[in-house]
Amino acid sequence: MTSKATLCLAALLGVQAAAQTPLYLDPTAPVEQRIDDALSRMTLDEKIRVIHAQSKFSAAGVPRLGLPDFWTDDGPHGVRPDVLWDEWEQAGQTNDSCTAFPALTCLAATWNPDLARLYGRSLAEEALYRGKDMILGPGVNIYRTPLCGRNFEYMGEDPWLASRMVVPYVEGLQSQGVAACVKHYALNNDEEHRHQVNVIVSDRALHEIYLPAFRAAVCEGHAWAIMGAYNLYQNQHNCHNATLLNRILKTDWAFDGVVVSDWGGTHSTAEAIANGLDMEFGTWTDGLTMGATNAYDNYYLANPYKQAIKEGRFSTAELDDKVRRILRLYMRTTLDRTRPLGSLCSESHYDAAMRVACEGIVLLQNRDGMLPISPARTRRILVVGENAVKMMTVGGGSSSLKAQRETSPLDGLRRRLHGLVQVDYARGYVGDTGGSYNGVSTGQDLTDHRTPEQLIDEAVSMARGADCVIVFGGLNKSDYQDCEGHDRQSYGLPYGQDRLVEALAEANPRTVFVSISGNAVAMPWAHKVAAIVQGWFLGSMTGQALAAVLVGDVSPSGRLPFSWMKSLDHYGAHALGAYPGTWREARDVIDEEYSEDIFVGYRWTDSRQTEPLFAFGHGLTYTTFTYGKPRITTLDDAQGRYRLTLTITNTGQRRGAEVVQLYISDLQSSVPRPVKELKGFRKVELEPGQTAEVVFDIDRRMLSFYDDTLGRWRAEPGRFEAIVAASATDIRGRAAFELK
Ligand code: GLC
Repeated sequence: MTSKATLCLAALLGVQAAAQTPLYLDPTAPVEQRIDDALSRMTLDEKIRVIHAQSKFSAAGVPRLGLPDFWTDDGPHGVRPDVLWDEWEQAGQTNDSCTAFPALTCLAATWNPDLARLYGRSLAEEALYRGKDMILGPGVNIYRTPLCGRNFEYMGEDPWLASRMVVPYVEGLQSQGVAACVKHYALNNDEEHRHQVNVIVSDRALHEIYLPAFRAAVCEGHAWAIMGAYNLYQNQHNCHNATLLNRILKTDWAFDGVVVSDWGGTHSTAEAIANGLDMEFGTWTDGLTMGATNAYDNYYLANPYKQAIKEGRFSTAELDDKVRRILRLYMRTTLDRTRPLGSLCSESHYDAAMRVACEGIVLLQNRDGMLPISPARTRRILVVGENAVKMMTVGGGSSSLKAQRETSPLDGLRRRLHGLVQVDYARGYVGDTGGSYNGVSTGQDLTDHRTPEQLIDEAVSMARGADCVIVFGGLNKSDYQDCEGHDRQSYGLPYGQDRLVEALAEANPRTVFVSISGNAVAMPWAHKVAAIVQGWFLGSMTGQALAAVLVGDVSPSGRLPFSWMKSLDHYGAHALGAYPGTWREARDVIDEEYSEDIFVGYRWTDSRQTEPLFAFGHGLTYTTFTYGKPRITTLDDAQGRYRLTLTITNTGQRRGAEVVQLYISDLQSSVPRPVKELKGFRKVELEPGQTAEVVFDIDRRMLSFYDDTLGRWRAEPGRFEAIVAASATDIRGRAAFELK
């Protein structure tokens, strides 16, 4: 065939091919037209198939139209290993180990939105490589009680901090074409009986405390999916809650994404249809035996829904809206052919995990410059505690991972001090010797049959001859600790750690306590130890990050994302007996009234003048900072816009980072308001002697409260005060201004 003829044929085929590319698959066509086109081609069966799971973590696409299956996976800290089609148990693959990033409470503790973006992007790259289109996270439920088993997965007690940190995480994740599924919407602030808790809360507390992080994720981060929570609000399950989903999320916030149920959070076909649920996952069937396998056609939004339509009890109006949202999700993920391929366990991901860990560790107390440890002046260190050796990436519930690497605190210190300092180890206490979850095992054998007395005696005798003692204690990922599904039953440290710490501090005043946990704990011995560090659950780079901070390679810059009270009754929820709730007569529902209302965390202690053990926003560094006097200028009186500036100087001998916090106090309000509320923060890294200027722009939104009589936010004219601080109790300057 002549070249001319070949060209003509190719052109003809090209035209034909173009003509055959249907609109819904044409990436150059407007998304809404593509959605309309796809919807018009789908049968009723196909529409029903895409709105519910087909396996434990996937929903069917439309094979006939070339719309791929849609794959989700946990979790917020790393991509969960693959499970069998219809099981929670492992599939036993050998290609699904991952990078374990630090828990989100550690990310919040960095107070560094740039790291949140890096975190989300890195996690998306791992998800892409593993073929996942949506990550079931991040979680942003507010830290209302320190007993909540899942606080380690969330971003602390303050809505402003959680909002500023969740937006870049979502943006980072979705920048790679992986959907965020922000959870658990909403008011899922404890775990005990989480399927039966009915939260009773004022509109002000709902909008000022519990919704802002979700609203920011949707309205600023443009999250593509939201996960409904297990609990009830206004006596309606949150996976199909008319107020939370139809009114607030989809109308007020104009959410154009997909509402996904929590696994097993769906309880009614009629409510799921009418109240805004778009994708049903994890239902244990609808009245067949709980154990029915592959019962996906029995899901509330499966055959029962199709039957309801066939019988004319429902039109396809709601169904088409659900499918439109799902098609829009496809356009953003599986149908986006420009999506990158991702990468798994890459050095850049370990670097990201290391940066988040190093910047999230919080130095809570450092008497007489105990830390950093100087290798040159240290001969022997004694490391004590089960958490110095125990793997923490396995367990804790759905955020459990199969990490390719996890360096323990003990190994991290031994590697860093190899050849420089002798590092001995004593168990100190025995806690949870288990080490597997859903078929993933740590491979550790932590069995130790010695008695607590023997363990303490051994540690104390070794402590006497050491230059310093570092105890790695805290909680772990087992039930009734930092673990999904249950809450802790007491505020104190488990496994007799208090006795151990007291004995060690007695034997060696140069004792450091590092808490490996996601929650505050009682520390009655805090005044007896030299230093205290909040070490979080740091994932793959645990040992390297803790060693870097303890030895001073890195100056700690983390700040607490929650208040650390001296005792449980200093938390509003507990002071008022507002946790746990009260079972109803039929013992089917627990009513939990959030009586502390908007006064959560430092908002509570400010209102009661109680001193926390360590304040929200608190964190020491290895240097010191001074603050210049804050000055405020009016940018626009009518609009209520002001600019606050101040200088900050590193007056110490080492480079370090300070988190300058801006709180706003409404001095003349017609309604009860907290003494102050966080409305800005800047993390500033400075060399010794260096000074930087920090600028905060203040707008009306930051002065407003939610007016529950009008159902909207508003700022009241009158006197306000901008408070600049290094923590909620360490005030460094004030500047008054008047909102006209
Ligand atoms: C779990 C959790 C949720 C998780 C889902 C899938 O019960 O509540 O956070 O993403 O089910 O594992």
